[in-house]
Amino acid sequence: MSLIKNLKITTLAENLVMTKCLGQWGLSFLLEFIDAEGDRRKVVFDTGIHKKSLFYNIKQLKVDLNDVDCLVISHGHADHTTATVEVTEAAGGVKVYAHPHTFQPRIIEDKTGKRRRHGVPKDEGINEIDRVGGEVVLTSEPVEIVPGVWTTGQIQRVMPFERAVSPSEGERRIIVVDGEEADDQILDDQALWMDVEQVGPFVITGCAHAGPLNTLRQVQRLGHFANIYGLVGGTHLVGRSGNYLQQTIEGLRKFKLSLISPCHCTGFKATARLWQAFPEAFILNFSGRVIEAEKEPKKRVI
Ligand SMILES: [Fe+2]
Ligand SMILES: [Fe+2]
Repeated sequence: MSLIKNLKITTLAENLVMTKCLGQWGLSFLLEFIDAEGDRRKVVFDTGIHKKSLFYNIKQLKVDLNDVDCLVISHGHADHTTATVEVTEAAGGVKVYAHPHTFQPRIIEDKTGKRRRHGVPKDEGINEIDRVGGEVVLTSEPVEIVPGVWTTGQIQRVMPFERAVSPSEGERRIIVVDGEEADDQILDDQALWMDVEQVGPFVITGCAHAGPLNTLRQVQRLGHFANIYGLVGGTHLVGRSGNYLQQTIEGLRKFKLSLISPCHCTGFKATARLWQAFPEAFILNFSGRVIEAEKEPKKRVI
C-alpha cells in the first residue's frame, strides 16, 4: 500500500463553532498532504449546506481553493453538497467523485403522504458542475483519486445492527433510480481513506449512513489493515438509542483507534459518549478545526 505524508485535515464547515468561523448543519473538509508520489495535494470532501458561511470560513482560514486537485462527495444529501458548483469553480474546474446514486432524485414522504424534495439542491447538479468546468465521475467502486488516497466506494453493510438513518416517526425516504422509486438506504454513502507514513490508516467520513463500523471494516478490507489509526467525520449517531451507541463503541474498540474526531451528525449525546469511551484518542471537532496526523493538537477538547 502506498503511503502519503503530512496529512492536514481542516474542517471548513461543521455544526459546532468554537472560533472565528461560522457553524452550519453541514460538513466540508479540506485535506492537504503529500501524495504517494511526493506531490503536494489538496482535496475537498463535501461542500456543506450553507454557501455563504462555508466561504466565510474559507476566507477566515485563509484557504486557497485555486489549487484544489479534486472534490469527493460522500453522498447526495443537501448538507454535504450545497456548494459543490462554487467550490469546483473556485478550483478552476476539477473532477468531482461521487457514487451513481448521489445526484438521483430523493423524496421524503411524511406520515400523511405529503412529499417534499430532498437530496442534492437543484442548482448543484451534474449539468451545473459541468458548466463551471467540472467533471463528475460516478462510480460505486473504490477509486484512487490521487496517488495513495482512495474512496471506499459503496460500503458493504455487514454489521446487523447498523442502520442508514435514525428512526423518525412515520417518515419514508425514497430514491428514484432509473425512474423507479425505492426505499432509500443511502447506498451512495462513501468515505475517504489513506495510509499515513509513520502514523497509520485514516478514514474521513461524511455522514457514515452505511454505519461507522461498516465503513471502517470496508477500509480494513480494502487496505488490508490490522487496525485503523484515525476516524474523522460524521457518524450518524444522532438520535440513536443507548444500546445502539454502546454497540457502536464496542465495535469501534476493535479497530484500536488512536484518534477519533466525530462531528456533524454524531450529535451531542453520542459525541460525549465517544469522548468518555476514548478519552485518549478523542479530538473535539468544530468549524475551523485543524488536525495534523503527525502532531498532537494544542487542545484536544476546548
Ligand atoms: Fe446524510
Ligand atoms: Fe449529514
